[in-house]
Amino acid sequence: MTRTVAIVPAAGSGKRLGVRTKKPFVLLKGRPLVTYALKALSSSKHIDGIIVAADRGSVGRLKGLIKRYRIKKVIAVVAGGKTRLGSVKNCLERAGNLFDIALIHDGARPLVSEREISGSIRLARKYGACVTAIPEVDTVKLAAKDMFVKKTLDRSVMYRAQTPQAFRFEIIKKAYCREGRPEATDDSALAEGIGRKVKILEGSFRNIKVTTKVDLKLAEVLL
Ligand code: CTP
Ligand code: MG
Repeated sequence: MTRTVAIVPAAGSGKRLGVRTKKPFVLLKGRPLVTYALKALSSSKHIDGIIVAADRGSVGRLKGLIKRYRIKKVIAVVAGGKTRLGSVKNCLERAGNLFDIALIHDGARPLVSEREISGSIRLARKYGACVTAIPEVDTVKLAAKDMFVKKTLDRSVMYRAQTPQAFRFEIIKKAYCREGRPEATDDSALAEGIGRKVKILEGSFRNIKVTTKVDLKLAEVLL
């Protein structure tokens, strides 16, 4: 039996959303954003425990929501770091050595499905590392600093990384031990950085990250 921990970074403030409420607590159809991802993870039979990162001032508030919305399996709510990677790192430390697989999922993605949860865990078991991603639909331009196009990239080989991203525990632990990758914006990049092959699970266009006000509207339509 393998044991899987879900790690949920939810310690961001949501600058790009541009509202006063911190993003994880913004209401979506009357319920705080972060509760959707937590509910989906706790309902999955493939997840054994959940560790969430909240910003230092919101740990108590998040614990309150977990009680109020009856979210099961939460082992700990830890204080997040300055960056998403810092927050995930704190969660990994809290997980200790009790788990074989870590599934990392953004608190800002309320529409994750069971297919993505179980699929990424399956591929992490098999290949060591898995990233959920969707094929690029727009033509992608490489821009120079002066905002002239340097190059048009080949769209057919482009994928947009989402979460969940799942890893054998020892791989992600090692990936996060390496200092000096502050520019990395996802977990897969760190695994790639230590030379691991990361398998892509084709995700869903529904699994959006709530980043801007438009995303908030879209999520309400999709939920
Ligand atoms: N996150 C985190 N700790 C941070 C920054 C981000 O745990 N220091 C989390 C966010 O809460 C979110 C996920 O990482 O669930 C993806 O980040 P993003 O969408 O960029 O959220 P924010 O950083 O809050 O938004 P913004 O970048 O617009 O400020
Ligand atoms: Mg951010």
